[in-house]
Amino acid sequence: MSVKRIGVLTSGGDAPGMNACVRAVVRTAIYHGIECYGIRRGWNGLISGDIIRLDEKSVAHTINRGGTILYTARSEEFMTEKGQRKAVSTCKFLGLDSIIAIGGDGTFRGARALSKYGINVIGIPGTIDNDISCTNYCIGFDTAANTAIECIDKLRDTMQSHERCSVVEVMGRNAGYLAMYVGLAVGATAVLVPEEPIDFDRDVIEKIRQARFNGFTHYMIVVAEGAGSAADIAKRIKDTIELDPRVTVLGHIQRGGSPTGRDRVNATKMGYLAVELLLQGKNNRIVCTHDGCFSDVDIDEGLAMKKNIQQMEVDVLAAMTGI
Ligand code: F6P
Repeated sequence: MSVKRIGVLTSGGDAPGMNACVRAVVRTAIYHGIECYGIRRGWNGLISGDIIRLDEKSVAHTINRGGTILYTARSEEFMTEKGQRKAVSTCKFLGLDSIIAIGGDGTFRGARALSKYGINVIGIPGTIDNDISCTNYCIGFDTAANTAIECIDKLRDTMQSHERCSVVEVMGRNAGYLAMYVGLAVGATAVLVPEEPIDFDRDVIEKIRQARFNGFTHYMIVVAEGAGSAADIAKRIKDTIELDPRVTVLGHIQRGGSPTGRDRVNATKMGYLAVELLLQGKNNRIVCTHDGCFSDVDIDEGLAMKKNIQQMEVDVLAAMTGI
């Protein structure tokens, strides 16, 4: 299998570090004498032929930039056979033999479809939700976590001064990885995630009471968006114990900002590895990482895997909040 012309795209929700990854793909490709093209606006760009040539210079000064210089989208058209055939036609017309797609599970399902039409594809996990089962880490998670932690630290100052209860909603779609990590990092009174069954009295009200018995007069409840809305949780707290919580939905602020060192370096390694995998003749793979080691897995196998919140995080949270 010869690799002459690689297309790289970002798809799904953007994540800090995607630019560092695109940069690594481009520079590794050029290092090996391979042409590299940026496909803009995710899979939609492959359907419509929205493509730009990328060289060393076009990715200069992007390693520190949040967002994605290639733009991103969630493409409904690409989920259809007609859309996929159009994308394949673009590849054939332009002579793109390989596609590197940075995104989440939806992005990888798209990549898998393309691979069935004979295009080489490699997926790279990029989502702040960190919910891709075949890897411990996804590009953007570390920056998003640190952004949320910084915001919640600020909230704590005012909650402490007014002796209030705060309910903060953290992103994560159907997953609680971000909320759990952030909750542990800010010393939350309680953390609610969709992966763990929630008993409101035990997991929220009793935690607040325990904190009060221990002399605290402000309380920080972190809720993953997939576990319920912060407004509903706040209302239930008010109805049950007559505290008057303030609600903060961190929202898209968590997706922005300059990537942390960890995100930049991991994104760079993943981008590099994706090109190396193509050169090794591999196809239909997802780049993944576990405990600092980088590897790859078949897309079908990767998509079929399951992961869950680490039991240790659940146990540590119980110990920290059950004082
Ligand atoms: O998948 C990333 C994510 O930020 C989720 O945490 C969130 O549920 C979703 O995207 C929001 O999507 P949108 O940017 O389309 O509102």
